[in-house]
Amino acid sequence: MIYALFRPLIFLLPAELAHHLGLALLRIGLCIKPCRRLLRWWLLPKSKRLKTPLFGTTWDHPIGLAAGLDKAGDCCGPLAALGFGAIEVGTVTAKAQPGNPKPRLFRLPKDRAIVNRFGFNNPGCEGMAANLRGLDLPCPLGINLGKSKVTPNDEAIEDYLTSLRCLGAQADYVVVNVSSPNTPGLRDLQAVDQLRPLLSALQPVCGDKLPLLLKIAPDLADEDLLAVADLALELQLDGLIANNTTIGREGLKTPAQAVAEMGAGGLSGKPLCERSREVLQILARRLQGKVPIIAVGGIESAEEAYRRIRLGASAVQIYTGFIYGGPLTAARMAKQLDRLLARDGFDSVAAAVGVDMEDP
Ligand SMILES: Cc1cc2nc3c(=O)[nH]c(=O)nc-3n(C[C@H](O)[C@H](O)[C@H](O)COP(=O)(O)O)c2cc1C
Repeated sequence: MIYALFRPLIFLLPAELAHHLGLALLRIGLCIKPCRRLLRWWLLPKSKRLKTPLFGTTWDHPIGLAAGLDKAGDCCGPLAALGFGAIEVGTVTAKAQPGNPKPRLFRLPKDRAIVNRFGFNNPGCEGMAANLRGLDLPCPLGINLGKSKVTPNDEAIEDYLTSLRCLGAQADYVVVNVSSPNTPGLRDLQAVDQLRPLLSALQPVCGDKLPLLLKIAPDLADEDLLAVADLALELQLDGLIANNTTIGREGLKTPAQAVAEMGAGGLSGKPLCERSREVLQILARRLQGKVPIIAVGGIESAEEAYRRIRLGASAVQIYTGFIYGGPLTAARMAKQLDRLLARDGFDSVAAAVGVDMEDP
């Protein structure tokens, strides 16, 4: 409510400035660990129904923060204090890189959407490792790995391996990101003949203890989604994250001229909702619960989170919904989700996963 009053003022600032200012304010306002713990305890619903065992850890509830907000891993404590079920940091690359020239972040308020072409600006895996050192988070931490821009695709495996070896010990799960539209050629790695050697090289380094997930693009053709699902089954991948931003621009309320002026980049938020739901359904139908799916894309209400869970998601993540909904979005959604589960007679999140899933 209070955020809704301030949001027009925040939105007067250039988007990337507001982003950095917001994170800086969070870091300053929540710099004391006991205060962070207290805030999280106060915000989170005390409901056993929401507890979500996933990848060997237990999330307090199934609503996590998607990758891309905390690219350096230097704001996880304050973000966890806001009540996320889990935090995913990154994308981080083996080598530090500045990302694309500014401006590279745009709001589309009429669509409750964002276009970004950050291009993996990040401090590199060693920089992130230093930021995460000694961190004692009250929720699971995922680390999202990408390929350095200067590394050609035929050397991608070594690049991902460098980041994994550097950061694996600090993660509760690791995500291979081959789906950002903002690194030239990256999405070519989603082809199964490229993905198989990449994932097969990372799996032995992860071993039994570190779950390995794959994050995919919503722009894959349906048959390519099925091929990825089959590969996940074949390699016994620990999970899929569906999905990243889209390069599509269909059905926007923002005037076409304004959208064209923003230029290239990934679109996120409400316009992505329907395709994300579809992607989830295609994957869930094929996987039949054998590989957990985290649903992400256009989720900004408990109702939509619940819908994705019923369609087969074991958990969900939010990013753009958090920017439009404000700092307490995840905690608010968790409380409402608890009510929805209770209303329908589910005594756990797991009991609701896939109840609306179609047969293969
Ligand atoms: C500004 C911005 C930066 C992002 N950066 C990353 C990133 O570095 N790595 C990644 O895997 N996804 C990134 N994403 C994608 C989100 O994690 C998420 O998959 C996507 O935005 C869809 O969810 P949403 O509609 O809730 O935002 C980014 C999204 C936004 C809006």
